[in-house]
Amino acid sequence: MANVRALAAEVLYQVVDKGQSLNTQLPFAAQKVHGKDKALLQQICYGVLRYLPTLEHYCQQLLEQPLKGKRRVYQFVLYVGMYQLQYMRVPEHAAVAETVAAVESMRAPGLKGLINAILRTFQRQQAELEASANLIPVCQFNHPGWFIKKLQATYPDTWQDILDENQQQAPMWLRVNQQHYTTAEYSEMLDEDGIEHSTDAQYQDGILLDKPCDVFTLPGFREGACSVQDAAAQLAARLLDPQDDDLILDACAAPGGKTCHILELADARVHALDADDQRLERVEQNLKRIGLRAECIHADASTPDTWWNSTPYDRILLDVPCSATGVIRRHPDIKWLRRKTDIDDLAELQASILKNIWPLLKPGGTLIYATCSVLPEENAQQVAQFITQTNDAIHHPLHDNDTPEQPGMQLLPGLSDGFYYAKLTKKQ
Ligand SMILES: C[S@@+](CC[C@H](N)C(=O)[O-])C[C@H]1O[C@@H](n2cnc3c(N)ncnc32)[C@H](O)[C@@H]1O
Repeated sequence: MANVRALAAEVLYQVVDKGQSLNTQLPFAAQKVHGKDKALLQQICYGVLRYLPTLEHYCQQLLEQPLKGKRRVYQFVLYVGMYQLQYMRVPEHAAVAETVAAVESMRAPGLKGLINAILRTFQRQQAELEASANLIPVCQFNHPGWFIKKLQATYPDTWQDILDENQQQAPMWLRVNQQHYTTAEYSEMLDEDGIEHSTDAQYQDGILLDKPCDVFTLPGFREGACSVQDAAAQLAARLLDPQDDDLILDACAAPGGKTCHILELADARVHALDADDQRLERVEQNLKRIGLRAECIHADASTPDTWWNSTPYDRILLDVPCSATGVIRRHPDIKWLRRKTDIDDLAELQASILKNIWPLLKPGGTLIYATCSVLPEENAQQVAQFITQTNDAIHHPLHDNDTPEQPGMQLLPGLSDGFYYAKLTKKQ
């Protein structure tokens, strides 16, 4: 089995320096360690990504120059060591010794002395280093500067709460498959199994676990009695309000959480479309577990002329590709993989999907536009622009302040993830 700290450093190097996603790197690395170490690997990778600017600052202060070239991965070994010393309850001597052992396992005995010396200096100077990091906003909040500025402009009163939430471990929500049990029935089953949880009236299919757990310990999980899905994501299917016999398009469907939910709520015909064929396979797997069927289509939602058979849809869910800035606590790599310029590119793609999918909706039909973003460019601004450009689009308020000029419902990370929804129908 591999050294868990060495693996963490390699994953972090691939994510931060090579632009790979944590979702692809972490499962691959986790195969190389045993059970308990899998959790430690995840904790270290998530933690370093949460506090990256602070850890970079410490290294900047302690190294004459950053480690480069073939030695670059050892910069990440230092982050792993410092993260354990500052943020984890690992005894200090063990954190240093284990990190130095990681260097040994990476066949770089020549660097053992340097890593050991830097970590020991860090221990001695930790208080001063922390104080100096707190004077730099990017280190104080551990988010990219461009993102902090965008949040400050959009949420002058709550931007700091959003940043704080992004640094927390995400809660684990379940979605109860209403075809198997009511939420109350499933809650009783969890009580019987001693799995502590709560419910919230806003989320009628949702159950919040007090502590994350292995899904296979949940009653009926293998048979599809429940799925793991954040509460905010569970609103999509409820807002779409699918009815038996509807023809529904889920235009950006993978990995299929919302497709499954739609089918759990109604005996509808669903076309689950996605541009990424590997991700589309996960839709098939998820449908298989819950024992429901949809037609999976590998295609580009912005070019329906290449795949649409001209039968209009009763309802369309557009859960468009987005910056994912509402789910940073689940994917802390997003902070470092996203660039400010991506937001304009994403907004352009979203506008194109919305414009090209709209003609596929039946007169009188419903379209739900959704993102897991907290940025107005992808949300209210996007939908407001569409409404002004589209004569047959009718805006439906989801709450008292949802207007055609400032449309939609913005949820911020907290009890649920950060999500945005807007509801439109087509004139008859
Ligand atoms: C936010 S995710 C969808 C999550 C999904 N609705 C769920 O609940 O599991 C966005 C999806 O859009 C897909 N996508 C990106 N560009 C697309 C396009 N032009 N046409 C169709 N799908 C696209 C991505 O592959 C990704 O799976």
